[in-house]
Amino acid sequence: MGEALLKGALFSSPDLSIGVLEKNVDRTQLLQKSYPSIKPLDSYADLGTYEAIIIAVKPQQFAQASEQLRKGISTTTVIISIAAGITLSTIQEAFPACVCVRVMPNTPALIGKGMTGLSFGASCPTEIQAFVRSLFQSIGEITTIPETLMNALTAISGSGPAYFYHFIDAMATESMKLGFSYDEAKKLLTQTMLGSAIMLQQSDKSPTELIRQVTSPGGTTEAAMKILGASDLGLILNNTLHAANNRADELSRS
Ligand SMILES: NC(=O)c1ccc[n+]([C@@H]2O[C@H](COP(=O)([O-])OP(=O)(O)OC[C@H]3O[C@@H](n4cnc5c(N)ncnc54)[C@H](OP(=O)(O)O)[C@@H]3O)[C@@H](O)[C@H]2O)c1
Repeated sequence: MGEALLKGALFSSPDLSIGVLEKNVDRTQLLQKSYPSIKPLDSYADLGTYEAIIIAVKPQQFAQASEQLRKGISTTTVIISIAAGITLSTIQEAFPACVCVRVMPNTPALIGKGMTGLSFGASCPTEIQAFVRSLFQSIGEITTIPETLMNALTAISGSGPAYFYHFIDAMATESMKLGFSYDEAKKLLTQTMLGSAIMLQQSDKSPTELIRQVTSPGGTTEAAMKILGASDLGLILNNTLHAANNRADELSRS
């Protein structure tokens, strides 16, 4: 995810000065090969010169990483954590002298099409809020939400790309039984989903109204939608979203 943010940010602001501190040396070398303008940092002490630090380690690594990061930062550094489930109060406890922000992006940030949720503490200065908003606007859409909704947003849009890829994979696999190759079906499905998503984004019609537009009485879509409507899709999606939300709640408590 850190790389997605890095690539997205450089894509929209090539002159941005970005330092990368990676535990894994091989990975640092790979990143530098792909993004020659980044500055690989050798030690946590090198972090002090940066305006903001994005902590992009696994939630289970947050405590250890913040222990190390604390050594290098100054009190004016803005701390941005993207770790699922790690609460603002945990971030603030780890960096008591800094302004902290909790953020949940998603991997389409890699191509500038991310969806990022942002939660600011009550005392976060408006100019820092504006700075963080513009940082994440450079890699897609943003929404500012109360922190109480952050684990739910993580379940919806943070993990969301995986649900979409799973759906396309299942549809492409089933399409093979109708005579298409997996790749041909994937192309048909991806462009169909992309076009439909853009249409939904640009239209003032609801999803239900747009379904009506596709569905002629007695037609093929109506036959398909009868099956889809009678399925347990709602229950499956409810279980899916709750599983992710509950896991984020567990990470918040651990
Ligand atoms: N993946 C997603 O779609 C997504 C979406 C939204 C948010 N997030 C959040 O983004 C975070 C990162 O997820 P990820 O899937 O990108 O994890 P990841 O692939 O494990 O990336 C984390 C990287 O940070 C390195 N690292 C760990 N501790 C470090 C330290 N103390 N100093 C410097 N580098 C350190 C890790 O090295 P090692 O591998 O050697 O430990 C690893 O290369 C998670 O908190 C996740 O909740 C992920």
